[in-house]
Amino acid sequence: MAVPHCHCPPSLAFLLVHGISISILLASADPPGFLSLSCGGSTSFVDSYNISWVPDAPYVAAGNATAANFVQAGSMSHLPLRFFPDSGAESRACYRLPVGDVSAVLIRTRFVYGNHDGMLRPPVFTVSLGRAIAGFVNLSQVDPWVEEFVWRVDRDILPFCLHSIVGGGFPVISSLEVRPLPKGSYGTTMAKFGGNLLRKRFRINCGYVDEEPLRYPVDKYDRLWDADERFSPSHLAASFHFPISFDPTGIKENPPISILQTARVLARKNVLTYSFPLYKLGDYSVILYFAGIVPVSSSFDVLINGDVIHSNYTVKHEEVSSIFFLKKRIDSLNITLHNISFYPQVNGIEIYEILGIPMECSTTTVSALQVIRQSTGFDFGWEDDPCSPKPWMHVGCDGNLVTSLKLSNIDLGAITPTFGDLLDLKILDLHNASIAGEITNLGTLQKLEILNLSFNKLTSFGSDFNDMISLQILDLHNNSLEGEVPDGLGSLNKLRLLNLENNKLRGVLPQSLNKESLEVRTSGNLCLSFSSTCNNLSDHSSIPTPQVVFDMKRPSSHPNYRTVIIVAVATGGICFAILLILVALMVQRRRSKGDDVTSRTSREIQRWNVARIFSYKEIKSITNNFKDVIGTGGFGSVYLGKLSDGKLVAVKVRLDRTQLGADSFMNEVQLLSQVRHQNLVTLEGFCHESKQQILVYEYLAGGSLADNLYGSNSKRATLNWARRLKIAVDAAKGLDYLHNGSNPRIIHRDVKCSNILLDSEVNAKVSDFGLSKQVLQVDATHVTTAVKGTAGYLDPEYYATQQLTEKSDIYSFGVVLLEMICGREPLSHAGTPDSYNLVLWAKPYLQAGSFDIVDESLRGGFNKESMAKAASTAVRCVERDASRRPTIAEVLAELKEAYSTQLTSLSTQGHDDV
Ligand SMILES: *[C@@H]1O[C@H](CO)[C@@H](O)[C@H](O)[C@H]1NC(C)=O
Ligand SMILES: *[C@@H]1O[C@H](CO)[C@@H](O)[C@H](O)[C@H]1NC(C)=O
Ligand SMILES: *[C@@H]1O[C@H](CO)[C@@H](O)[C@H](O)[C@H]1NC(C)=O
Ligand SMILES: *[C@@H]1O[C@H](CO)[C@@H](O)[C@H](O)[C@H]1NC(C)=O
Ligand SMILES: *[C@@H]1O[C@H](CO)[C@@H](O)[C@H](O)[C@H]1NC(C)=O
Ligand SMILES: *[C@@H]1O[C@H](CO)[C@@H](O)[C@H](O)[C@H]1NC(C)=O
Ligand SMILES: *[C@@H]1O[C@H](CO)[C@@H](O)[C@H](O)[C@H]1NC(C)=O
Repeated sequence: MAVPHCHCPPSLAFLLVHGISISILLASADPPGFLSLSCGGSTSFVDSYNISWVPDAPYVAAGNATAANFVQAGSMSHLPLRFFPDSGAESRACYRLPVGDVSAVLIRTRFVYGNHDGMLRPPVFTVSLGRAIAGFVNLSQVDPWVEEFVWRVDRDILPFCLHSIVGGGFPVISSLEVRPLPKGSYGTTMAKFGGNLLRKRFRINCGYVDEEPLRYPVDKYDRLWDADERFSPSHLAASFHFPISFDPTGIKENPPISILQTARVLARKNVLTYSFPLYKLGDYSVILYFAGIVPVSSSFDVLINGDVIHSNYTVKHEEVSSIFFLKKRIDSLNITLHNISFYPQVNGIEIYEILGIPMECSTTTVSALQVIRQSTGFDFGWEDDPCSPKPWMHVGCDGNLVTSLKLSNIDLGAITPTFGDLLDLKILDLHNASIAGEITNLGTLQKLEILNLSFNKLTSFGSDFNDMISLQILDLHNNSLEGEVPDGLGSLNKLRLLNLENNKLRGVLPQSLNKESLEVRTSGNLCLSFSSTCNNLSDHSSIPTPQVVFDMKRPSSHPNYRTVIIVAVATGGICFAILLILVALMVQRRRSKGDDVTSRTSREIQRWNVARIFSYKEIKSITNNFKDVIGTGGFGSVYLGKLSDGKLVAVKVRLDRTQLGADSFMNEVQLLSQVRHQNLVTLEGFCHESKQQILVYEYLAGGSLADNLYGSNSKRATLNWARRLKIAVDAAKGLDYLHNGSNPRIIHRDVKCSNILLDSEVNAKVSDFGLSKQVLQVDATHVTTAVKGTAGYLDPEYYATQQLTEKSDIYSFGVVLLEMICGREPLSHAGTPDSYNLVLWAKPYLQAGSFDIVDESLRGGFNKESMAKAASTAVRCVERDASRRPTIAEVLAELKEAYSTQLTSLSTQGHDDV
């Protein structure tokens, strides 16, 4: 690989010397679409080809301008150039090239070292275009180094980057040219061979002999065409030049007429051979141009590397044609024309290396990472694709999948739901990231093998571990985890190492963790072991335990679990004694406090006068001993109940782990009792005894909007557009009351389809409101983790501000509207990665006024104006920028309008459908 594989046209010397010294012509003739950047240059100028050059500064954010010190033809050349001193071991500097409205562009770059730093140490670096690593530049081999690419345009701005290599010195560049190519050109090559990017190796004008390559204005696309003699070892073939005019437009590449007017024609021998050194194993594309410039038709076989690719190819007088051919996995190339009748000939040859372009990452992954970056407030230089051409800082990839993320020693605060969108993660390292509260939002990461959450402020395990089935290493050392180790960890069959050192854990480790294949580290906890020493500490309230730390400094040693047990058992006695005393003290203090709470609250409850208090026994009886489950959610299960007067109720039983403190619970009940509105689900009563927190709501027979939209096709079909609008209007009324009518104002925090319930007349009511808001004020220590909201509905601004506002409800409601319009869930793996996120997928269609994505079961049944109104409302609701979202009052007004438009159109059509 030490052989130079860069072909530098002889014109370079000319350009280097004269390109800069050309006087500035006033009558600039910059051809349309050309962009010519003088890298590191400070003035604009027009060169001898009448092409305008401009300084590169507006297109690149990095690098230092300087000039090369060439001795050229006896005099010093001071060609401007730009170099990029690295900030890190491997850094990148990118140009952003506007490419405009064309199908393909040619990109030509010159890299010049020219001993600009006087160190005589030419750099080595790589360059990339878009997602593809496009070349490796070693200026020790040849200086200047020229590269030329053909890129099939798939976006408006093309990133062109220089990547430094460890020990490779500072990347340099002196010019960058962008030239639009004719429509559809090189497309055959690229489409057929599955690439979007070609790297030029050779472009020759057969029969042409000048040293200077032909280029603009002879080739209006400014391709450089070189003489061919170097590649045809037998100079026995003659070069011909006939001034015949051809119409080359039949060939998409549009070769210039002057290229076609010369040819190499075999006159006396049997074969004409061209040999091209490639030096590099790869896939190559070959284009041959033929034009009938001699007065007879010639026929010949065309061979590439000895294989006949075209037998008896005929070139007719005054006609032009071309041949494309792909040769895979070759490192040398020869093209042979074999005589059949008359004079074999060829007029032009282009040879390109086909560069593979890595697949892009899913938009969900990209946006999730950007959201995470935003919430950290750091600039990691995360731009373009996370995996290609090179993985972002802190990110690791396997192909186009993001498989590792390491964000340590920064202030994250919480594991936001976005982490749960990085479904391909195998390694997640968030140690020392100030994460407090419960371990949440990771249950979707079923491929996760290594999770490092050490050195945070975590207090509780959460329930996500039950789903993280691939977990091998779980590092939770140096946190504030309290209580007992959940049994669920034992079901993680692949777990090899569980590090729980230096937490506030206690009690008996689940026996399911006691196995040969698993190392459990427990030192530095209050009292944690596989033996039953600590068994009778059964008080489940969180006691403010003093941090009794054993064996603090041992994370680097690797004891197996047996030695840990010995340590734990040995220390268990002392531990137990300390705890016993503490517990006794605590229980006593709690009792007196507990009495206070109940007496105070029962007096208050009298005054609320709304909510009925149920005993646990009554609850058991009205639910028929919890017989009919009608729903389950993050908070627990909901059961069907029947009051003595026959009224049906929904009985919501909180899971232990979601229970609030007594104060919070009573506050919540008080709040809910006060909120009464026809579009809000009414609280009938509650039960707070035997460690139960139970809420009794009115029962709505129609089920939730989610049940109706996604339950079964027949249900969904009954939800015509008018009904959906009615439901939307009702729900908006309910939210409007929460935001504007109630005192205090209430932010729902979890608006979603499953929280919009329908009664038997298809009136809609909002449920599950007002839950965490109170927690914020009363029980501040729990709030940091009590992020409400559901994946797919959560306000993107939450990640930056850590706050849910009324506008967060608007966002979630916008998602609900989109669901009603499109008939699909907010996050769905059913389609392509691009359609995974409903908001990202639907927004562009609806903004463009396209209804292609409207739910199939609504097709033909909606008034276009009504749909357009609702769609534009939905789109405004899901604006990223919260301040641009409408208020609920505006939303309500617009939905009412859409609804009445729909009803009017129905009655004028004579339908009776509502
Ligand atoms: C450049 O433009 C000038 C004035 O328009 C013209 O005289 C000259 O021939 C042009 N040069 C080339 C190389 O086309
Ligand atoms: C590059 O430019 C920056 C700021 O203009 C300067 O601080 C730095 O020293 C320069 N680096 C080199 C290697 O000249
Ligand atoms: C660059 O080229 C020089 C000269 O051919 C060679 O000695 C050196 O090893 C090359 N560097 C790399 C990184 O390939
Ligand atoms: C090419 O082939 C034709 C037909 O076989 C023959 O007549 C002619 O002499 C050949 N030309 C040369 C230069 O060998
Ligand atoms: C052309 O390549 C083929 C296959 O690599 C080889 O057999 C043949 O000798 C080559 N011909 C010439 C003229 O180099
Ligand atoms: C080659 O093709 C020409 C025209 O297509 C035909 O006339 C001629 O017979 C063919 N020669 C051979 C050897 O197949
Ligand atoms: C945690 O990160 C801070 C910087 O954010 C650093 O000062 C500290 O040393 C880190 N601690 C550990 C244990 O890595």
